[in-house]
Amino acid sequence: MERRTFVKLALLSSFTTLLDAKKIDKEITVFKSFSKKLAIPPILKPNILESGIKEFNLNVQQGKVDFLNGSQTNTYGVNGDFLGPTIRISKNDTIKINVKNALQEETVIHWHGLKVPGVNDGGPNRSIKPNDTWSTQYKINQRSSLCWYHPHTHEATGRQVFMGIAGLFIIDDEDSRNLSIPKEYGVDDIPLVFQDRRFSQDGQFIYKQTMHDVMMGVTGNFSLINGVIDPYLEVGAKTIRLRLLNGSNARVYKFMFNDYREFYQIAGDSSFLPKPVKMKTLILSPGERAEVLVDFTDAKGKTLYFGDNLSNKPLLQINVKNEEAEDFRLPKKLTTITEYQEDNFTQLREFTLDVRPGWLAINKKQMDMKRIDEEVILGESEVWRIINPTHMAHPFHIHGCSFKVLSRNGKKPYLNETGLKDTIFVYGNETVELAIQFDYEATKEYPYMYHCHILEHEDAGMMGQFTVLKSKKESLQVHS
Ligand code: C2O
Ligand code: CU
Ligand code: CU
Repeated sequence: MERRTFVKLALLSSFTTLLDAKKIDKEITVFKSFSKKLAIPPILKPNILESGIKEFNLNVQQGKVDFLNGSQTNTYGVNGDFLGPTIRISKNDTIKINVKNALQEETVIHWHGLKVPGVNDGGPNRSIKPNDTWSTQYKINQRSSLCWYHPHTHEATGRQVFMGIAGLFIIDDEDSRNLSIPKEYGVDDIPLVFQDRRFSQDGQFIYKQTMHDVMMGVTGNFSLINGVIDPYLEVGAKTIRLRLLNGSNARVYKFMFNDYREFYQIAGDSSFLPKPVKMKTLILSPGERAEVLVDFTDAKGKTLYFGDNLSNKPLLQINVKNEEAEDFRLPKKLTTITEYQEDNFTQLREFTLDVRPGWLAINKKQMDMKRIDEEVILGESEVWRIINPTHMAHPFHIHGCSFKVLSRNGKKPYLNETGLKDTIFVYGNETVELAIQFDYEATKEYPYMYHCHILEHEDAGMMGQFTVLKSKKESLQVHS
């Protein structure tokens, strides 16, 4: 997995040397790293309706958070001040979610990674007015995975995510239940939502300001995990499962441990991997998820750091308890990917990323809510070719599906992307091919989106809309 020559990477170097002299911008007060405990997002309890439907209530609201020991940062959150609870469900569950917009502006919540019809998908066309509630109900029919929810408001997604609207969605199925891997939420199965922020002198978030912010995406000098700046985590002297989400607007992470310890990736965005993949570094672009297993039996009583090699910063302090080590046997096999085995593809679609000074688009078109860019036929297998002629890497995300990566520049995909995914990091001057199929309908009224998941790029127009309809004929009827 060490063949990443695409992005300019800092030479592998230990970031522990930076612990004392952590770079702090002049604008903000000094913050003592690793003084706060990692928060674990609570699991939201559903109401069970008569028909067995699990009902969840999400209240999107304003809040205030003391991030910097004394700051009163204005935030947004879901059922709380910042970020939201975890929705945990099983394959074949039918769920109903009531999204109440208690903000003073429009918003909408999208279920990133969920395979649901366009009408339930929470795209920009679904916008919820202040004080309104959007109720949506759908059946879960997909593999166990870590998904997430976040706003998808027209031209305001980046700002609303930055303010704090995001949460996790965990799907369980036979695979996740039967595998003998750590699964005690918050104890040995730890969700980690990585984000970064910048603060003004009076402790408020500083969002988009300049053309540079738009072109490069907004990044911050403070890193947050689950809404806590530079937290610490205490774990047992055993194998721990980390569920990683890059929930940042634009920052790319190359995760590693400060002692270069190996870990195993077991899952990507939308499924387990066929087998565990041994790694020392893991690149995660905005919107992507990964699950890894790390063995801490050799580290009892020690302090380690999980950090980002690109910014050369430790992000999470891990204190391993001084207790008797617990053995663990890594499963040899995790799952079988049965999807897209035959290649009877009926369509090839090309998406060329298009970046020029002050211009972000796909196929030379900027997002237009009134224009449908592609019309897909329900249930047909297609190949989507994402062409990135730019020098910058872009995470390309597609709604309403999970896909298999066929190739990168004509070569086999990396081992850690041999499961199903919904977001693919396309490096500069790279072409990626995806095998894809859509199993649910998306009408012209509520189409699906495909877009760059650097949220400032998305908001600036690097996004398109597509329908999924039963047949060409029928789609014509619907359109007339
Ligand atoms: Cu996570 Cu269309 O987005
Ligand atoms: Cu999505
Ligand atoms: Cu982009």
